[in-house]
Amino acid sequence: MLAIPSVRLATPGDARAIAGLSRDFIEYGLGWSYTPERILRAIRSRTTNVAVIEDRGDLLAVGIMDYGDAAAHLVLLGVQPAQRRRGLGRHILLWLEQCALTAGLEKIGVEVRADNPGAIGFYAALGYGARSRVPGYYRGVVDAVRLEKVLGSTGVEGAG
Ligand SMILES: CC(C)(COP(=O)(O)OP(=O)(O)OC[C@H]1O[C@@H](n2cnc3c(N)ncnc32)[C@H](O)[C@@H]1OP(=O)(O)O)[C@@H](O)C(=O)NCCC(=O)NCCS
Repeated sequence: MLAIPSVRLATPGDARAIAGLSRDFIEYGLGWSYTPERILRAIRSRTTNVAVIEDRGDLLAVGIMDYGDAAAHLVLLGVQPAQRRRGLGRHILLWLEQCALTAGLEKIGVEVRADNPGAIGFYAALGYGARSRVPGYYRGVVDAVRLEKVLGSTGVEGAG
């Protein structure tokens, strides 16, 4: 099995590639809201981590998490199609979760497209449980499933 490259915080130079990954593989059919400018704001935010995995200049995966007083929110997570099912999604999410755990937060929330059973399976494997369905959450056209993970319950061990 190939080694997984390490996770690092994004820099402004990553914004365009991250936004492109979101447009093509996360926001498909919804329009483009995570533009380079919005990603830049997230990179500069003091309460947000934008984490990436890259290999020789190519962006392989991105995860964005907001950290609040008691809970964190996973804003965006995506892995390039050719790189899926080799553990990159798990690796970057556990890295972001570890930051929340270190900060003493209690839980992490995320919304996922209801028409994306692969991602729902991924989150279930990582210990996220479904809390509710939100009709029309995405631009009024696609429902969301709202998921939550209570930290310390499962899965955070081994991040790094
Ligand atoms: C969801 C996504 C981030 C998963 O990334 P990944 O790197 O392929 O996932 P991993 O290889 O780390 O998978 C970890 C575990 O999650 C589960 N899993 C991953 N993809 C799955 C799928 N398509 N169906 C069911 N379970 C899945 C498996 O249990 C997997 O472990 P295994 O491969 O040993 O069986 C990736 O498929 C993706 O980018 N999808 C498009 C964007 C998206 O849906 N983002 C999430 C919503 S914002």
